[in-house]
Amino acid sequence: MTIQTTANIWHNGKLIPWDQAQIHVMSHVVHYGSSVFEGIRCYTQPNGAGVFRLPEHMARLLDSAKIYRMPLPYTAEQLSAAVVDVIEANGVTPCYIRPIAFRGYGEMGVNPLKSPVEVYIANFPWGKYVHGDAGADVCVSSWNRLAPNTMPSLAKAGANYMNSQLIRMEAEINGYSEGIALDTNGYLSEGSGENLFVVRGGVLYTTPLANSVLNGITRSSVITLARQLGIDVVEQALPRELLYIADEAFFTGTAAEVTHLRSVDRILVGDGTMGPITKALHDEFFGIVNGTRPDRHNWLTPVNVKVAEPVGV
Ligand SMILES: Cc1ncc(COP(=O)(O)O)c(C=O)c1O
Repeated sequence: MTIQTTANIWHNGKLIPWDQAQIHVMSHVVHYGSSVFEGIRCYTQPNGAGVFRLPEHMARLLDSAKIYRMPLPYTAEQLSAAVVDVIEANGVTPCYIRPIAFRGYGEMGVNPLKSPVEVYIANFPWGKYVHGDAGADVCVSSWNRLAPNTMPSLAKAGANYMNSQLIRMEAEINGYSEGIALDTNGYLSEGSGENLFVVRGGVLYTTPLANSVLNGITRSSVITLARQLGIDVVEQALPRELLYIADEAFFTGTAAEVTHLRSVDRILVGDGTMGPITKALHDEFFGIVNGTRPDRHNWLTPVNVKVAEPVGV
């Protein structure tokens, strides 16, 4: 989907026009992938709009930057306030928010430390990410996820998404909506941009952080909701074939939200329809973000948006 532009982008503390948010081709990030970023959603509710788990996303951005020795001259609170400012200035909701920090124009060479850190925050309308309203048809990728002690998977770094691109391109070229990668030991890891959950015998399983996954904020939200619903949640290494004999499976992610998997490698998951545990979690998640169920964890940061524009699909 083409990016739908908005009026302003936040850059190092100031709002600038969308078209002026440009960088030099010799910037460090262009050559060496030296960026960390976030993806966040702002939802509309009957009485306004709210950003989902904004402080947690900003804490993860600072963590990603810390792993890469990239000092950000802003606190999580300042960055959260900047997100609210840019959404309110652009007046676009619901929307997707993309904060990004990277090494800019400074020195050539792999070492990034002499190149300046730039921080930008954009927001724009963005609809469904993993296609398949009746459930997504996915495959197990021939590509592995990042090996431990190579690219740190707890950092949401731009360079990690070269691996994600391989997974996603292969899946789409072969007629699937998304690919699930195994880790380098052959255990289930995650989708190219989503965490993975599997249900079997009434128990909800997900892959632990040691299996090369991002510490997903939707993942942690779904774990919280599941425990509150009295569902057993187990984080453990999971074999690939569990997908084929699962009763239910779904992806979570800011972009993917809660997306149920209809089939994996053309094998139906359960009977292919959204199963009861996925549905209960899906309904809880969308109830909270859409404001039809109480936001009992204070997951939504309110924004004051006067002009609502429809979200693109
Ligand atoms: C590789 C990867 N895994 C998992 C996720 C899900 O994380 P979150 O729920 O925080 O969006 C994402 C999306 O950010 C991702 O890119």
